[in-house]
Amino acid sequence: MAKKIKITETGLRDAHQSLLATRMPTSDMLPILDKMDQIGFYSLECWGGATFDSCLRFLNEDPWERLRVIRDHCKNTKLQMLFRGQNMLGYRHYADDVLEYFVQRSVANGIDILRIFDALNDIKNLESAIKAAKKEKAEVQVAISYTTGPVFTDEYYVDYAKRIAQAGADTICIKDMAALLTPYKTESLVKAIKSAVDIPVQIHTHATSGLASMCLLKGIEAGADMIDTAISPLALGTSHAPTESMVAALQGTEFDTGLDLVKLSEIREYFMTLRDKYIKAGLIDTKMLATDANALIYQVPGGMLSNLLSQLKQAGKEDKLTEVLLEVPRVREDSGFPPLVTPTSQIVGTQAVFNVIAGERYKMCTNEFKDMVAGKYGTTPVPISDDFRKKICGDMEPVTCRPADLIAPELEKLKAEAAQYVQQEEDVLSYAMFPKVSVDFFEKRRQAQLGMNPDLLDKKNGTYPV
Ligand code: CO
Repeated sequence: MAKKIKITETGLRDAHQSLLATRMPTSDMLPILDKMDQIGFYSLECWGGATFDSCLRFLNEDPWERLRVIRDHCKNTKLQMLFRGQNMLGYRHYADDVLEYFVQRSVANGIDILRIFDALNDIKNLESAIKAAKKEKAEVQVAISYTTGPVFTDEYYVDYAKRIAQAGADTICIKDMAALLTPYKTESLVKAIKSAVDIPVQIHTHATSGLASMCLLKGIEAGADMIDTAISPLALGTSHAPTESMVAALQGTEFDTGLDLVKLSEIREYFMTLRDKYIKAGLIDTKMLATDANALIYQVPGGMLSNLLSQLKQAGKEDKLTEVLLEVPRVREDSGFPPLVTPTSQIVGTQAVFNVIAGERYKMCTNEFKDMVAGKYGTTPVPISDDFRKKICGDMEPVTCRPADLIAPELEKLKAEAAQYVQQEEDVLSYAMFPKVSVDFFEKRRQAQLGMNPDLLDKKNGTYPV
């Protein structure tokens, strides 16, 4: 029976996050949005992840306005965002009242699908986000943070997939952020998950190690329903498999996507001019475009490898890279095998560097490592031994409940803090996630609105009235 494979186009989010540090401004998206909306993609991944931070911090843009603009031009295609569960798009756990408000405003401004994940694959960290998204009648996709290691068998992922389905997710995504999947691993994993749960399965992988399109094809043959791709000028390297190549590969088969290659070539043409512009501006580092199979040798994400190297360089210990790479799996084993994705990749990597530089394991520990061992980030895939926890955390009481249960409601407090800047109700959420960066942005917005009227300038401190 013919089965149409659905495509999520990532050009507006993950592709530029992977290739040009999330620096694509809305003005570069605007001219092509109407055409992208006519293609028949299952969804456009266009918001969340690092785009929110990047809008405020680097592009002097309101991320909410970007979402409204995209929605305005894309009436036929579902808009999708990436959401880090209880962290939302920030770097700490937020109270449920803030999370619920964020989900409500995201959907109200145009999001149809929330792809939600947790770094530790702890379903407790996703419960509130799933509930909030369901309440807003959004489509809920829960992503499995894919990683490798002795405990990460197909059974481990099947067990997690069942919990995801039970929690009420509409679809599941296998999120291979570190490009660790291989074609045959993808095949067995998709088969195992498809036979255990009834909901559609999507594959998200990266082309870093050169295997992405093979993984997608094997996954499709094994029963996957949806795949993530990127329009070709923003594909390959650390990004995704090219949209057009996958469409062509499946054309005329039982998996035909039904998408029109001629229409796609118009989209390609537009993004090709952007690509040239970004390369000339030095925004796309051609190193990012080269295939790098090191991730497959060391089983760590490419970004983590370069972080480790730069940390060692700063300490003048570049010669210790091999030792650190051997230390990473030991630290992971001691700390309950966390998958290596933001923020756990930094926590484990830094601890491995400390262990090697100190010449003694856990002589120095970062606070983040202590918090993770204490359970403050959630439950690790494998329990941490009491002895190890005592050694790292002393008498600190381990957290076994849902970590967000320990956070008091904070929305009212944040509203009061942000009150003087707020021009739209969403501003308080920008402020909640990136307080300092948002205040800078609000200030610049105000100045622009005042038309930089020199009469209003406070000469003493060089600012305009807020
Ligand atoms: Co990704």
